[in-house]
Amino acid sequence: MALDVAIDLGTSRTRIFLPNKGIVVDEPSVITIDLDNDGILAVGQEAYMMLGRTSSKMDAVFPLNGGVISDFGLVEAMISTMLKGVVSSKIGMPRAVACVPSEITEVEKRAVVNAIGGAGIRKVCLIEEPVAAAMGAGINISSPHGSFVVDIGGGTTDMAVISLSGIAVSRSIKQAGNIMDEEIIKYVKRKYNMLIGKRTAEEAKMKIGCVVPGLVSGTYRIKGRNLITGMPAWVDLKANEMVEPLREIANTIVSQIQDILEETPPELIGDIYTDGIVLTGGGSQIAGIDTLIRIATELKVTVAENPADCVVLGCGQAIKFIDNLNKADRGGINPISDHF
Ligand SMILES: Nc1ncnc2c1ncn2[C@@H]1O[C@H](COP(=O)(O)OP(=O)(O)OP(=O)(O)O)[C@@H](O)[C@H]1O
Ligand SMILES: [Mg+2]
Repeated sequence: MALDVAIDLGTSRTRIFLPNKGIVVDEPSVITIDLDNDGILAVGQEAYMMLGRTSSKMDAVFPLNGGVISDFGLVEAMISTMLKGVVSSKIGMPRAVACVPSEITEVEKRAVVNAIGGAGIRKVCLIEEPVAAAMGAGINISSPHGSFVVDIGGGTTDMAVISLSGIAVSRSIKQAGNIMDEEIIKYVKRKYNMLIGKRTAEEAKMKIGCVVPGLVSGTYRIKGRNLITGMPAWVDLKANEMVEPLREIANTIVSQIQDILEETPPELIGDIYTDGIVLTGGGSQIAGIDTLIRIATELKVTVAENPADCVVLGCGQAIKFIDNLNKADRGGINPISDHF
């Protein structure tokens, strides 16, 4: 019997869901390779721990960038290794539902399908990330009712108004978690003449990151190199300082949400007025982003429960549509597709 899997191939993290087991993989989308023979040294969390600490004989990389594959072979190797740990080869080649950002090209979609197919999956169906996020957040996407979902990931922020299992209006922008980390690195360099790594910046963001002052208190010690002396250095970053590097990104997300609201057809905007906006994705946990959106739109804004898991859970729910791909049945429009 074939086993079906759901895969959220994210820029920051890869998650795999099995229908009877739940989320079985939730690891950084990182792979470390041996530069001498191209062998795989580590994937996931183990590879993430090597970031910025590798010797000249190895390289640890994120093979996705801005929601799209930047190194095809490495993505294939990473998924293949992650799948091997959870899917027994005796079960046969499974089918998969995987998500893609809402505004990528057909070529980029094909690369996702081929990389997952190359990792041993017999059939790959795609679902747009905000649709999967909405399903995973518990929204009934098939009703003729508008829902507004904003998924703030590592590589992209995907925003969409969804109705009748499809997207009415959407945007996908690169202002998301990774750019926040880059802005923190630039801020620390500017303010303290200190160079820090991406992991340190991300940890600081997760511990004390906020986009509205006063919401988070305390400090977080970051360590790096003083750019003037060249010596090791540390600084205790205050939570309120984080507003400076992060606020512009948050404002861009807010203004894109406002643009979408302006483009949304009147019947759907009425539904959104009642239900508000749902936030998903790891980045939606940044303190104050919901407040900023609420103030700018005057709508109710809710951060979904376990927001970073919504997309893979939604992909998991969409597995049931694989058998109905070509049937125009009365169950409504199919949110997944195998045509690219
Ligand atoms: N508590 C937190 N506060 C702020 N940011 C967080 C928090 N937890 C995780 N993040 C950020 O969320 C991002 C990862 O979110 P997620 O796992 O949804 O992304 P992804 O699916 O891999 O990326 P994408 O969908 O863009 O391809 C990272 O940038 C991470 O630093
Ligand atoms: Mg994602």
